Amino acid sequence: MAAGNAVVRIPILGSESIVCGHGLADYMWEDMFASLAAASTYVVITDTNLGRLYMDGHRAAFAAAWGRVRPEGPAPPRLLVRELAPGEASKSREVKAEIEDWMLAERCTRDTTVVALGGGVIGDLAGFVAATFMRGVGFVQVPTSLLAMVDSSIGGKTAVDTPAGKNLIGAFWQPQRIYMDMAVLATLPEREFANGMAEVIKTAAIWDAAEFAVLEAGAAAVRAAVLDGERAGAEGAALLLRVIAASARVKAHVVTHDERESGLRGLLNFGHTIGHALEAELAPHVLHGECVAVGCVLEAEVACRLGHLSAASVGRLARCLRAYGLPTAMDDPLLVARAGPERMARLRPARLMRTMGVDKKNIGAQKRLVLLRTLGATVEPRPLPVADALIEEVVSAGVHAGPLPPRSASGDGGGGGGGGGGAAAAAAAAAAAVVVVPPGSKSISNRALLMAALGSGPCRIRNLLHSDDTQVMLAALQAMGGCSVAWEDGGDTVVVTGRGGRLHVPPGELYLGNAGTAARFLAAAVALAANGGDCADSATVLTGNARMRQRPIGPLVDALRANGTAVEYCEREGSLPLRVAGGGLAGGRIQLAASVSSQYVSAILLCAPYAREPVRLELVGGKVISQPYIDMTIAMMAQFGCRVERVDETTYVVPAAPYVNPPEYTVESDASSATYPLAVAAITGGTCTVPNIGSASLQGDARFAVDVLRPMGCHVEQTATSTTVRGPARGGLRALPTVDMEPMTDAFLTAAVLAAVAAGGPERVTRIRGIANQHVKECDRIAAMCAELARFGVAADDLPDGIDVHARPLAELAGEAPSVHCYDDHRVAMSLSVLACVAPAGAEIRERRCVGKTWPQWWDVLARDLGVPVRGADPAMDQPSGEPDHHHHANNSKPDSSSSSSSSPTDMSIVIIGMRGVGKTSLGRVAARELGREFVDLDELLERDVGLTIPAIINGSGWAAFREHETRVLAAALGGAQRTGAVVACGGGVVEAAENRAQLKRHIAAGGAVICLVPNMAQVAAYLGRDTTRPAFAAASDIHEVYARRLPLYAESCNYELLVDTALLSGASDGAATPGAWALIERDLVRLARFATGADLNRVDVARPSSCFLSLTAPDVREYLPARLGVVTEGAHAIELRADLLLRGCPGADAGAGADAFVAYVHRQFTLLRHSSRLPIVFTVRSEPQGGAFPAAWAALQARLLRCAVRWGAEYVDVEISDAEIKDSAQPLALAPPARQRSLLIASFHDTVGDRLRWGATPFGADVLARARAAGDIAKLVSVARTWDDNMACQAFVREHHSAAASLIALNMGERGRMSRVLCPCLTPVTHPLLGAAAAPGQISAAQINQARALCGLLPAQRFVLFGSPIAASPSPAMHNAGFAHLGLPHTYGLCETADPEAVRAAMAQPDFGGASVTIPLKEAVIPLLGALTPAARCIGAVNTVIRTADRGLLLGDNTDYLGIVGCLQQAQLDAQTAPFAAARALVIGAGGTSRAALYALHALGVPRVAVFNRTPARAQALADEFARLFAELRVVERLEDAAGAAYVIGTTPASDLCLPDALFAAPGVALDMAYKPRWTPLLEAAARRKWAVVHGVAVLIEQGIHQMERWTGAIAPARPMGDAVHAKYATDC
Ligand SMILES: NC(=O)c1ccc[n+]([C@@H]2O[C@H](COP(=O)([O-])OP(=O)(O)OC[C@H]3O[C@@H](n4cnc5c(N)ncnc54)[C@H](O)[C@@H]3O)[C@@H](O)[C@H]2O)c1
Repeated sequence: MAAGNAVVRIPILGSESIVCGHGLADYMWEDMFASLAAASTYVVITDTNLGRLYMDGHRAAFAAAWGRVRPEGPAPPRLLVRELAPGEASKSREVKAEIEDWMLAERCTRDTTVVALGGGVIGDLAGFVAATFMRGVGFVQVPTSLLAMVDSSIGGKTAVDTPAGKNLIGAFWQPQRIYMDMAVLATLPEREFANGMAEVIKTAAIWDAAEFAVLEAGAAAVRAAVLDGERAGAEGAALLLRVIAASARVKAHVVTHDERESGLRGLLNFGHTIGHALEAELAPHVLHGECVAVGCVLEAEVACRLGHLSAASVGRLARCLRAYGLPTAMDDPLLVARAGPERMARLRPARLMRTMGVDKKNIGAQKRLVLLRTLGATVEPRPLPVADALIEEVVSAGVHAGPLPPRSASGDGGGGGGGGGGAAAAAAAAAAAVVVVPPGSKSISNRALLMAALGSGPCRIRNLLHSDDTQVMLAALQAMGGCSVAWEDGGDTVVVTGRGGRLHVPPGELYLGNAGTAARFLAAAVALAANGGDCADSATVLTGNARMRQRPIGPLVDALRANGTAVEYCEREGSLPLRVAGGGLAGGRIQLAASVSSQYVSAILLCAPYAREPVRLELVGGKVISQPYIDMTIAMMAQFGCRVERVDETTYVVPAAPYVNPPEYTVESDASSATYPLAVAAITGGTCTVPNIGSASLQGDARFAVDVLRPMGCHVEQTATSTTVRGPARGGLRALPTVDMEPMTDAFLTAAVLAAVAAGGPERVTRIRGIANQHVKECDRIAAMCAELARFGVAADDLPDGIDVHARPLAELAGEAPSVHCYDDHRVAMSLSVLACVAPAGAEIRERRCVGKTWPQWWDVLARDLGVPVRGADPAMDQPSGEPDHHHHANNSKPDSSSSSSSSPTDMSIVIIGMRGVGKTSLGRVAARELGREFVDLDELLERDVGLTIPAIINGSGWAAFREHETRVLAAALGGAQRTGAVVACGGGVVEAAENRAQLKRHIAAGGAVICLVPNMAQVAAYLGRDTTRPAFAAASDIHEVYARRLPLYAESCNYELLVDTALLSGASDGAATPGAWALIERDLVRLARFATGADLNRVDVARPSSCFLSLTAPDVREYLPARLGVVTEGAHAIELRADLLLRGCPGADAGAGADAFVAYVHRQFTLLRHSSRLPIVFTVRSEPQGGAFPAAWAALQARLLRCAVRWGAEYVDVEISDAEIKDSAQPLALAPPARQRSLLIASFHDTVGDRLRWGATPFGADVLARARAAGDIAKLVSVARTWDDNMACQAFVREHHSAAASLIALNMGERGRMSRVLCPCLTPVTHPLLGAAAAPGQISAAQINQARALCGLLPAQRFVLFGSPIAASPSPAMHNAGFAHLGLPHTYGLCETADPEAVRAAMAQPDFGGASVTIPLKEAVIPLLGALTPAARCIGAVNTVIRTADRGLLLGDNTDYLGIVGCLQQAQLDAQTAPFAAARALVIGAGGTSRAALYALHALGVPRVAVFNRTPARAQALADEFARLFAELRVVERLEDAAGAAYVIGTTPASDLCLPDALFAAPGVALDMAYKPRWTPLLEAAARRKWAVVHGVAVLIEQGIHQMERWTGAIAPARPMGDAVHAKYATDC
């Protein structure tokens, strides 16, 4: 350790006893020996964390220091060390007593010195020991946590906790010395560091403006100094020391002046009143400092509401806290992630208010808060009383706004009708006018900052936007020495004093986060730096977060290079990080490609005045984008004294003339924000002026007043720089027949709320168009507005390109205050608050804080400036009790929270639509039968109803009459008694009538399913050519036309789609069907219908300790068909279809004309997978920036595919959320419920570089997790492992955040990250050795994961058994053991030969029992021993499989015998082309347990007529009676001859000395025998003799065994190895 020569000493209570420095161990012991009273024993109390890290060093330092201080003196004193368990639990009376007993046993005397080496826990406890041991001994603090350094070690408060509360028993006992060694912070966990920073920032906020500014600007450097230790260099170390010493100094000062906390010391409680109330609910999950951080911001908001503190200051405070990794709001994702939904649910305002009621600062019932006046000073040097209502408002999630009481008559009349009214009235109105200055525009703010820094002298910038982006810009300009920055007017004004363009290249890096504008502008600015100065050759690295490092910057770099600046890409060509050298811009002719971003142009223009030569900038490379922003730059440069000449469309000349800073510059307000106060005036008949936006503004939304408000009836006065709006008398707004809002899309929400009450003219409907992009903003804003306006009683239609709003007169708005959702969208919240002003009882806005994104002070403005009543509201109180809170969270960002029922089944009818001839009736019948529902054919119903055939109706009365009948019948089918429980097949043209489409949409809206069968048109045309029962299409070409016309009508009328294409497997272009394809389609429809109704959602059981999905990588899934898919999916629980990887399989696909073809291709691929696997599908489309193959520019097509996947019934849809970080991304949440329907949304965040998502280190992970959870149902977080430890960090994160109720997929990519895949709790993506390429680096196979988990002891070996007798010769052990081994599972399968259910019960009670097969004679006897039965087992009345479920260890009985039969018969039918099941007869021989499975199998196959034969007919009869309801006909035959005509014969009796008459085998058929010994049973021999196809018992055994294995593991079983094992055993035995 370095000698502590550079120590800083801080006085406290009259002596300089606080010592700060870097590497203090030697210094500290020497100082103690030399300057403090001698002690015979030094007792170091520490915790095991610190003991491990630092005690060796201290022991050595102790001995060495003694040697130096007393070279020839007495023997050294004793050094005793006591290491305690880390954590608050050690701060107890019991631990204190243990320490004291130990010290007594060690014979410590009064001349002992206690040294506390640790955080606040150790300090408080050791201090209390020192205070009471022998009535007080010497005490030294060596604080090691930041919190301890700046807070707990200073002031002499010591204490222990008791069950009644924290710190209740203690003493004041001042330490003789406090040694703060910055070096130890290097090992402090980052979260603990942030925890301490909360106190540091708090202290600066109340005390020292300059210090606050240092903290604000230095966040990155301070964090680096702590986290990177040595690497941050001497400068970083000095900064850290300065910051900590400054904070400690304040605390020491306050303690010195108020040791016993009677006045001044109360100031240190800033943020603690609310912070403690939060801590009471959230500790220990949320740390003290984290709660205080939130408390600071909320208490600052109170000061702001009271008019003491500026809004800008609240923003700066919050941003500063955030920069150190602290939460700043009660809905902060960080807080939510740490606390968990249950605890967050406890944060009711009323409860928090009660807790605050017992704060020691209160005087009686009156609460007192420390109120800031500015950052660095308080209103008074003590806490002040504050009204409860105000505190309650800031701790509430929601807000109740409005109504604004009508103004006096003069004010009202003044604007009446928008005109006239006389001068007096106008004057009165003007007097009532309010002036509102919305926050500054981001684009203008950034430009102003750069120019002011490059110019000379001070420029007072007012109304600067306070956001992360501008913060980054300011910090970088300061780092380049370009300017100095000061704050005035309590932070409202920033004074930038420019240094005339004298920049230097900052050493190291400039980290720019995701600030795109700053990155582009600064790249050019760095090039200007240090023209010939001392750092002429130096360069700096511009870098940003991973997202920023994907955003393009190439054209700008090319232009700079061509102009002589040395720029290198450090990683990827075309993106940050960049190494930019200084040396100045040469100037002259610069060519620049400006078709990607106008920011490149602005960057060059803004820096051009400082080039050596005048610049002639030529824009090349196609159409220049965003010209208005270039115009904005030029206009602003003129304001800073530089006139750019635009020579022609693409050429600009910039003189070499430095900027002349205007003394003052007011940033124009954001024009979108300005629409809200103007709209309040419009809707309430008031007057409002926005003084800094006018006709000269370059922002599109500046036209809102003139283009929208004026035509609606407002009086608008707009000058070049200001806008004043006076509304008509209340209720006087007029609807606009159509308004194209394309130039100002963000303002459409404001227009929509005005349109909602625009009933003052002849029209009622306002049609807003040109806003398609608003479907995919922060939420689907159009859907959101329709849903929320409805709560006010206002109807609106959601259109692809717009919205139609049907106005209601004010008096007809909903009488009670509606409670509205904002979908976490600031614009939704602010616009609805405008409507709340005139709603009879106002409105409750459920998410108050979402306005923070652009206008955190909106509610203050609404209340203070616009006079609208605003108070806190607790929306959670209106939720039905018992609703889990995460539901509320999961839903609040999506339109229509009714989707919370998305997993509960519905028995509403399933409607099938589609072209005639596609198979609606026959498929519908199958679905009805399988789902046990009634089948309704709408055409039949109609014919019955009218009493005529359809051709007769049409020939007699025409098409129109027919459609009328159809509408009526459809209404009857969907609205009447048949609304539930049926499968309804409609006529092909049902969607032609608008009323029918509306009916279908209502059915969907009510939660029903409408499945559209999507045809292969070639097949349909061929089929219809043969059909004569329906009115003909005139020509073959007609039918294609009809289809093309109906396509969009079908699409809008259904919510699910099923591809019906029997040629899919053959791939034949002529539409030739593949045998068996129809059966696959039937199965797919049944599956889709079950999914759509919620009857079977086919989800992966996340309660399993691990599950995985196979990522397919081929461009065409046919590469895996027919057999390879089963092999590669072995061990997988789901299968991922990466639609982006399919691009290579579909030549000609593109985002334009080729889009439809690609969607159709993907649908075929999806269907092929459905045909070939029962596994749930995870549907994913990754763009190039997301690590996939889809061009980034195809975002709209990407979103379309995701929506298609939901319609196709994909069980999981994966959406990447990292895009949400880029504002210009077109794909935030394409799939908000209810658009998600029954699919689960996996919200994925991929950090492909691995620098952002550091599991343990940063709060970012928790932040991202919270975002993912808000966006989707399952969170998927992926980083990259750099070291092995990253896996452990990931695992710790998983342990904290994963549960079956809140699933989390978390892993690290890369070779080093493999272990994280092994440990990933659910839905781990896997590959298979037979797949060429893995979908991601480091991917391993399912079997490898199982092996690794087993080796690590994470997958305990389970025992599986076969119960029954006799079973000695069973091949099951060979089969299942082969299966387990192949899957890498450590389980074993053995025999338990018994006929006694009690023995079975005992075996199943063993802790390692995993599951069982059950055979004769126990298949029925086992049932009473089980916890539950599957529907199949219940219906069959026999169990052959016992499953131990993952979640509660419940024993579940199932029957896979029937599946064995079904699978084998289906294959045989396909191979032998025997009679279709639906038209066949069957015979079952036998009436025991197995025959029950056979009957159920025949039912499942759809065989309508079955005969049963048994030696004892009475038993057959009993069986037939029981199963009769499953068949059209089920009869008992006494002689086998009587069953002649059966195409399928199933034998279920082991004894087979039956005489099988030839007559039985007259027509072709399939015989199956369940007996597998001998291989050729008499039944099979007889059948084979008559050329029947045969199924051997062993095949059924294997098939059912595979199903068994799949039920036990939840994954695909390795069919081949299991079959091979059986055959091998069979070959040796038989
Ligand atoms: N006396 C006071 O005036 C006062 C003021 C504030 C807080 N407190 C008390 O302080 C306690 C909280 O203190 P804390 O936040 O320091 O908690 P802490 O003492 O529990 O330390 C936090 C964690 O960080 C570890 N740690 C500390 N320094 C480390 C280092 N340099 N390297 C690696 N690990 C390190 C600790 O082992 C512990 O696990 C509470 O009990 C609180 O009541 C007292």
